[in-house]
Amino acid sequence: MHGKSIGEHVKSVESFIKDFGNERIALVTSGGTQVPLEKNTVRFIDNFSMGTRGATSAEYLLAVGYTVIFMHRESSLLPFSRHFPSLFNMLQVEDGKAVSSDAKLIDNIQKATQCRNRILFVPFVTLSDYIHMLEGICTVLKPLHEGVLVYLAAAVSDFYIKHDDLPTHKMKTEEVSLPLSVVPKNLQRLVENIVPRAFVVSFKLETDESILVEKARKALSRYGHQLVVANMLHTRKEHVVLVDNEKEIHIRLSDKTKEIEEDIIGNIKERHSDLIANAGQAQ
Ligand code: PMT
Repeated sequence: MHGKSIGEHVKSVESFIKDFGNERIALVTSGGTQVPLEKNTVRFIDNFSMGTRGATSAEYLLAVGYTVIFMHRESSLLPFSRHFPSLFNMLQVEDGKAVSSDAKLIDNIQKATQCRNRILFVPFVTLSDYIHMLEGICTVLKPLHEGVLVYLAAAVSDFYIKHDDLPTHKMKTEEVSLPLSVVPKNLQRLVENIVPRAFVVSFKLETDESILVEKARKALSRYGHQLVVANMLHTRKEHVVLVDNEKEIHIRLSDKTKEIEEDIIGNIKERHSDLIANAGQAQ
């Protein structure tokens, strides 16, 4: 792992949340995980996710009052800056300074500045970083009980190569071998042991619509969490299904000037409020 170690990142979460003890905290995971094919990694398996869902959702979570821990794939999209993939071309030089009068850019810089103290960025690259970091951060969040929303939008690899099966050096083309193993899902441990009182949302991505809701239901019964946001690869920006233990709600984007995450977050905030209210009554 480059830069800070996982332990250091987890420590930074610990000191970050000290200032926000009684507020709602959302842990958002975003972007894809990388799976190394060699110990001295030259090649790796990756996936399509750019982190749009996670970065967009983080903006709406901040807008409705959450403090956000944004656990994201390094170099994937980030809240606010995501709108400007080619910032370089938007700037002019005036009096020796790079400036822009683009209204959307100004608006987003202002929003990002206002939220600066309410979001912590925690980067990961590999699948192993992701798994250990998620567990470490959730352990730190455990004492905040129902105040925590865990929003698992990252595209986590389902396959990896066990450390003992990894070649040390760059794989030779005449010796190509990919002994893939299935990644054990850590969601059940997370829900049962680490953050049992939090509101946990996982995502389910499919390319065959006929199995989408069924897969989401299986995930709910297997892991015992509150909600699955089910989406199809090619329509994920216009249509999602929110699946809980009782029903399914379809969210469809009718106004193309808006983003579907606004409605997803609106709905999830209400559900999270119910969890907090019910926990208060039970005490
Ligand atoms: O980033 P974008 O381009 O905007 O794309 C967004 C998205 C399509 C990636 C996102 O909306 C989405 O669907 N993410 C989940 C992809 C998926 O199908 O994950 P899964 O079925 O492998 O895992 C289900 C859930 O378990 C996920 O929430 C995942 O974060 C979590 N998981 C998976 C494996 C693992 N070892 N641990 C986990 O916690």
